[in-house]
Amino acid sequence: MGRIVNLECRKIEHGSEDYWQAVEVRRDVLRRPLGLDYTSEQLNAESSFHHFVCENEGEIVAYAMATSEESMDLTIRIKQVAVIAGLQGTGIGRLLMSYVEEWGLEQGFESAFLHSRGYAIPFYERLGYVGYGDIFEEVGIPHQKMLKKL
Ligand SMILES: CC(C)(COP(=O)(O)OP(=O)(O)OC[C@H]1O[C@@H](n2cnc3c(N)ncnc32)[C@H](O)[C@@H]1OP(=O)(O)O)[C@@H](O)C(=O)NCCC(=O)NCCS
Repeated sequence: MGRIVNLECRKIEHGSEDYWQAVEVRRDVLRRPLGLDYTSEQLNAESSFHHFVCENEGEIVAYAMATSEESMDLTIRIKQVAVIAGLQGTGIGRLLMSYVEEWGLEQGFESAFLHSRGYAIPFYERLGYVGYGDIFEEVGIPHQKMLKKL
């Protein structure tokens, strides 16, 4: 288990050094356990999205992405939420989600939407998200749509 010394969440730029460090976190937490990786096309396609990290003593320990899709009007979509394995369960996910939600509110969004992996549903429920619709498959594992009024 790692140790939290000085945790700070912030928005970062696509393509920056921080972004590439965060891609490594995402690979470790979200892709490698499934035997998957990102393609350069997938990462290039993220250039218009909003990227957020939490840093502990200069090391990126958590990541989340936010996108606004035309069809979703005043709803921000949050994707790719990942906390490094050694610091999961220490409150970083909650802190990062509130940072992204606060940013969304400031931008004028009224709700937040996401696809939760099955095992992460209780985490998002603790944060006020409500699941709806049928369970569906994404990256080979069960997911559920969830929504929260900001
Ligand atoms: C899911 C994830 C982002 C949660 O972040 P985290 O930092 O571990 O969670 P936190 O410590 O902030 O937990 C916040 C609350 O949710 C609860 N919680 C977190 N994960 C939970 C789980 N799997 N089941 C039940 N409760 C959970 C915590 O107990 C805590 O509750 P409390 O504050 O009321 O006591 C993180 O564990 C992770 O990266 N997991 C692997 C990747 C993943 O599944 N990402 C989500 C893809 S949709």
